[in-house]
Amino acid sequence: MKTAGQPSLKGRTVLLGLTGSIALYKSCDLVRRLKDEGADVFCLMTRGAGEFVSPLTFSALSGHPVADDVWDRGVWKFNHLDRAERADVLVISPASANTLARLAAGLADDIVTAVALSTRAPIVIAPAMHEVMWNHPATKANVRKLRGYGYVFVGPERGPLTRGDTGWGRLAGTPDIIAAAKKAVRRS
Ligand SMILES: Cc1cc2nc3c(=O)[nH]c(=O)nc-3n(C[C@H](O)[C@H](O)[C@H](O)COP(=O)(O)O)c2cc1C
Repeated sequence: MKTAGQPSLKGRTVLLGLTGSIALYKSCDLVRRLKDEGADVFCLMTRGAGEFVSPLTFSALSGHPVADDVWDRGVWKFNHLDRAERADVLVISPASANTLARLAAGLADDIVTAVALSTRAPIVIAPAMHEVMWNHPATKANVRKLRGYGYVFVGPERGPLTRGDTGWGRLAGTPDIIAAAKKAVRRS
């Protein structure tokens, strides 16, 4: 049940950054659930993400072309930088260790990091990786830095990982990611 004043994603522009984690398949459902909440969802994919799930899938699910190449003239034609400007929230899910490092370094040479650096919208990050990567001091330092920038983290959780391991690094559940996006969404 919705309460008056409770943040909602209805009519909001959600940018969804997708990166190269095995957990990427879960973001197919995330797109559907965000749309169920009334959000207009635009997907941005790293090259790594495209190795796991085809951009076509996210294009079909979101109903919009996917931006997966910072050099693609079409990206500018579809006004993704415009969208970065008008976005109500940028959710990066799953966020790989590599992308966390790139964000922390302020790099902007793929579409996810370029938009993250260009948007004024709140940024929600849902990391997903093996526990060894998550516990690495480099990742920990990157997360600290990003939290310092005001980025909101949701998860990771402890649970089953790939290769039969159990530990920290599992992607947060879709309802938790949506709740974090709702809480973070730009008030206007
Ligand atoms: C099968 C497979 C699964 C992977 N899963 C993860 C993962 O869950 N998390 C992660 O941080 N990296 C994972 N990687 C490594 C990333 O894909 C790799 O670091 C890549 O450079 C990430 O690029 P991106 O951040 O630009 O998408 C995986 C690689 C492979 C081949």
